Amino acid sequence: MSHIGNYEETYAKFTWRDAEREIGYEPGDPINIGAWCTDRICAQGKGRKTALVWEGHDGTRKQYTFDDMRLRTNTIAAFLRSHGIEPGERVCLFMDKIPELYFGFLGVLKTGAIVQPLFSAFGSESLLTRLADAGTSAIFTQKKHLAKVRAIVDQLPSLRLIIVVDDDGSKPLRERETAFDMDGSPQVEHFDVHPTTAESPSVLHYTSGTTGKPKGAQHVHYSLISQYITAKYVLDLHEDDIYWCTADPGWVTGTSYGIIGPWANGVTQCVTDAGFKADNWYGFIERMRVTVWYSAPTAIRGLMKEGLDVVRKYDLSSLRHLCSVGEPLNAEAVLWSKEAFGKMFHDTFWQTETGCIVISNYPGMPIKPGSMGKPFPGITAAVLDPSTYEPIAVKGEVGLIAIRPPWPSMFRTYWKNEETYKAKFRNGWYICGDRASIDEDGYFWFIGRDDDVINTAGHLVGPFEIESALLEHPAVAESAAVGKPDPVNMEVVKAFIALKPGYTPSKTLELEIMNFIRKKLSPLAMPQEVEFVPSLPRTRSGKIMRRLLRAREWGEEIGDTSTLEND
Ligand code: WT7
Repeated sequence: MSHIGNYEETYAKFTWRDAEREIGYEPGDPINIGAWCTDRICAQGKGRKTALVWEGHDGTRKQYTFDDMRLRTNTIAAFLRSHGIEPGERVCLFMDKIPELYFGFLGVLKTGAIVQPLFSAFGSESLLTRLADAGTSAIFTQKKHLAKVRAIVDQLPSLRLIIVVDDDGSKPLRERETAFDMDGSPQVEHFDVHPTTAESPSVLHYTSGTTGKPKGAQHVHYSLISQYITAKYVLDLHEDDIYWCTADPGWVTGTSYGIIGPWANGVTQCVTDAGFKADNWYGFIERMRVTVWYSAPTAIRGLMKEGLDVVRKYDLSSLRHLCSVGEPLNAEAVLWSKEAFGKMFHDTFWQTETGCIVISNYPGMPIKPGSMGKPFPGITAAVLDPSTYEPIAVKGEVGLIAIRPPWPSMFRTYWKNEETYKAKFRNGWYICGDRASIDEDGYFWFIGRDDDVINTAGHLVGPFEIESALLEHPAVAESAAVGKPDPVNMEVVKAFIALKPGYTPSKTLELEIMNFIRKKLSPLAMPQEVEFVPSLPRTRSGKIMRRLLRAREWGEEIGDTSTLEND
């Protein structure tokens, strides 16, 4: 039996207060995500239940109970407190998907500090931008990523603590650096959790927009209410489930549904540090007996490409419920999953800013392949007319996806950027920045983004960040970064570049530029293609017309460019 029951009935009667009561929260009470995912579950008598089964890429396995997790997070929290980390300070996690990343997240929150997870594939420049903006005080990292931190430490006066979780003493640590051994340290039985309340800041996730540098979406401890109940109703988590979220906690899916939601439900999670390959993934599902699987369209298309024969090599009969997020889930992928696993992937839609799933397909509700489904109970969603910001009444007409505030996990600001935050609200609605239509049955159909942000493999990459980095290359005079279609990743980055006098286009230069961006920013931001152009199309006011370049890549009708020129 699904938790959500009949969707329409639940939608009609649900209030967030119901979710508060269910988790045992009374307005005004202290609430701390770190403690509520660990201590609270142990207090329910589940201390000996497995919380995390972790498998490294070399097959190493580590297993932790909820009580182990309580102790590890206490130990991390006590370590930070002993180093003078105060509530409200920003503590970054810059690690691969190792247990220290998961427990570090909850440990930081127990101290009342703000946790700032960053994708470990980020290069120094991506890291610097985000640490400088947040004024981060401490960073947890691994030996393999230490060089990237060292390269920028002199530009980060507020960064006073660099914690290396796998130091083996082979190379001397430098000033500000310290070693911490999570499993080997004496475990702290009792830690006085900082008494955070609903509106205390919790998580800072950086996300990209069209203009300016990445913005820190700031969340609060009260978000737990949304993450708990959406994990229960959408992912359909039950007591005996073995849940696998394939997302990296450097991105919001990996924290809201790779840490907070499932553990607040007391559910066993498994994590693999192995790279993407059908054999690796199916083998993992088979070994772990995964029952609920939350993944992304790029991964599903990647699996489709490897075919059904490899699916049949494994016993995947444990799978009970499948969900997807991050990009449009095409109907073919939904139908393929039915053929491959006997289950359809349920598309879910949300954002870093929403903190939780806001539009989704639910167990028991008929799936229309290609549709994102319907608003979560407690969420009012609409598509708005882009000129009036009023809901569009006509079925099938395209408008802006908008959510009516508030809901518990709504972001509370962009870090030190209240102006940009306010601009996301119009006429009493939060504007997601995406376009969709709603059909006669109330199902939402995604059309596309309403800005120039590139969505590659479910990760948002801001054109501004790429273009700024490109300008640091000696050969580049000006550039535009746009998304071009890709059969697996949906979009990949393509850079249009005008060279400075004295430089001539060549394959060598193209590769050099690609590599330059990969190292500075990340493999995701690296252009897969560079096109050298004499100059870039601009509006009359001088803005580069990315949309024109993008439309050309997608073979779209550009139509009347006068609107573009007046941009
Ligand atoms: C953007 C948010 C929170 C999930 C991870 C990404 C796109 C997300 C879908 C979907 C079509 C989707 C949107 C959205 N997106 N889910 N089911 N169908 N597009 O979080 O990095 O903040 O990205 O991802 O464009 O605005 P994010």
